[in-house]
Amino acid sequence: MKVLALTGSPRIGGNTEILVDEMLRGAESKGHAVERLRLYDYEILPCVDCRRCKRSESGYTCALKDGMGEIYLKMENSDFIIFGTPVYWYGPTAKMKLLIDRLRPFIASGKMKGKKGAVAAPSEEGAGCCGPLMEMFRMSFDYLGMELIGSVLAEAYERGEIEESPEALKRAYELGRSL
Ligand SMILES: Cc1cc2nc3c(=O)[nH]c(=O)nc-3n(C[C@H](O)[C@H](O)[C@H](O)COP(=O)(O)O)c2cc1C
Repeated sequence: MKVLALTGSPRIGGNTEILVDEMLRGAESKGHAVERLRLYDYEILPCVDCRRCKRSESGYTCALKDGMGEIYLKMENSDFIIFGTPVYWYGPTAKMKLLIDRLRPFIASGKMKGKKGAVAAPSEEGAGCCGPLMEMFRMSFDYLGMELIGSVLAEAYERGEIEESPEALKRAYELGRSL
């Protein structure tokens, strides 16, 4: 199985990346092929609601030409997709939201249907503040026809602080192993 992780934190080596890497380590231990993409390494333009992706003559593809071209392909070729984002104002980061808005072609093409996924989200306040974020992911997974199999919501604020939470790292590793 192919596991793709998309991380939406601007902090290299931050809590999101550490959590996601633990999930990937767990998945690798079960023999899955894993890849992590840092969304901040890609230009992702905002969806402009042109609706080209809803038309069959476009092949249900996006009209915008940017880094999403590569990300779309990688998503299509994955069985399992991890969305990693720090909580920013009780939602995902703007970069992660840009990606989510651009998933509209997959509604018409149905190419995400049947895929599984998970969420990793560190935040200063911890799981108690993640209701709106998780509701957004749950409903978006549903709309895409994907199955949300789990999440790791963990408390951490400073860069790398998550390393001091072996319990959170273990949850991430075990979720990765359970894929
Ligand atoms: C703009 C901004 C908004 C934030 N909003 C929240 C928030 O609403 N709730 C919270 O608990 N933490 C919030 N945080 C803290 C981050 O979620 C936290 O520091 C997280 O561990 C960062 O993860 P990273 O190291 O992967 O970037 C915010 C941080 C920033 C920079």
